[in-house]
Amino acid sequence: GAPIEVDLAPIAEGQSIKVFWRGQPIFINHRTPEEIAFARNTDLQSLRDPQSDEQRVKAGHEQWLVVVGICTHLGCIPTYHQGDYQGWFCQCHGSQYDSSGRVRAGPAPANLALVPYDFLSDSKIVIG
Ligand code: FES
Repeated sequence: GAPIEVDLAPIAEGQSIKVFWRGQPIFINHRTPEEIAFARNTDLQSLRDPQSDEQRVKAGHEQWLVVVGICTHLGCIPTYHQGDYQGWFCQCHGSQYDSSGRVRAGPAPANLALVPYDFLSDSKIVIG
């Protein structure tokens, strides 16, 4: 699939949108300061799939999280703003992901996958 450009300007802080790239749903979250702090104040040793928040977002654009919106257990689409970790809850078997898209509970083996993207400006990205 071709790269896609996404205008971030309409996405308010605390909101998430879903776009499609290569037939996959991609979540783009405009994280609040609280959600960023929650992601960063996490003991990495407590994580099933240890990755720092810094590894999952771009420096200078920490408010934006861009991940594949497919549960890494069996492929359901998790629901945002549900669960106990300021992220997503998967209705299928109860996996939970945090505000960095990292798995925190349930059967999912891995974090929500990252996608290749770059900032074209402060308010526009290209995915792919
Ligand atoms: Fe999400 Fe099973 S598919 S928990």
